[in-house]
Amino acid sequence: VDHLLGIKYLTREDIELIHTTANQFKEVINRPIKKVPSLRDITIANLFFENSTRTKLSFELAEKRLSADVINFSAAQSSVKKGETLIDTVNNILAMKVDIVVMRHPNPGAGVFLSKNVNARIVNAGDGAHEHPTQALLDSYSIKEKLGSLDGKKVVIVGDILHSRVALSNIYCLKKLGAEVMVCGPATLIPKHIESLGVLVEHNLKKALQWCDVANMLRVQNERMDISYFPSVREYVQQYGVTRKILDSLDKEIVIMHPGPINRGVEITSEVADSDQAIILNQVENGVAIRMAVLYLIASKIKRDD
Ligand code: CP
Repeated sequence: VDHLLGIKYLTREDIELIHTTANQFKEVINRPIKKVPSLRDITIANLFFENSTRTKLSFELAEKRLSADVINFSAAQSSVKKGETLIDTVNNILAMKVDIVVMRHPNPGAGVFLSKNVNARIVNAGDGAHEHPTQALLDSYSIKEKLGSLDGKKVVIVGDILHSRVALSNIYCLKKLGAEVMVCGPATLIPKHIESLGVLVEHNLKKALQWCDVANMLRVQNERMDISYFPSVREYVQQYGVTRKILDSLDKEIVIMHPGPINRGVEITSEVADSDQAIILNQVENGVAIRMAVLYLIASKIKRDD
């Protein structure tokens, strides 16, 4: 593929190729010399129109580990604040001979729009409440690393499904890799007709946790929320917060995931987030290898096309 715009556009084979490529890069980043020269002739611009800690730093580190030249752009400190459009912004950056643009943007479809309007390879680092493809790739990679395979595994995504790009990308990715997927949360935070994506819906947290092998806990996204129809934080914590007590009441041990940032004490207690049952920091570690794999495969395609 030329771009990474969403998991929707990938096949199972594409995802598995990214995962096997990431295996090689995971070995590289665990060596004393963590760098390879693979992208020495490639220039990458990281464009962040929305806040980020993990994705931004992880892409930048992935690019540096691959020896690419890297420039970083944060909308808050740029001429976007003077009214410059997205296409003008990107074309000005591309005039500096940039090959790949990694972009996070608050508008759903921003990556697709850009890919049709500028002459560069685009990697979607999160577009509004639409997709976050590298998060789903690293989440599915982390589950495979922990459980061996995704075929037949049961994964529940808990929380604010309605506003979550992580949820949508994970649903596409997990289904393509053969997992069974359930979403769990209050009816107000689950999109209508989500069953059409082939997922189960459960409003009772205990039943959902008892069903699954893996629970991916999502943050309640207050910044995308119409507060009038949300249950209160107190009600949310009571009904959907994962605690040691509820995990101990299950008849098995499940794997706990979270894409970050965590609202400690809301969707998950610190005791659970910091326990051996959680693979939250493994997800972050794997994010670098996954992003190296994505950039390496896109750059290889650029070199083949030249
Ligand atoms: N998981 C994730 O996308 O985190 P950031 O918003 O910090 O990048």
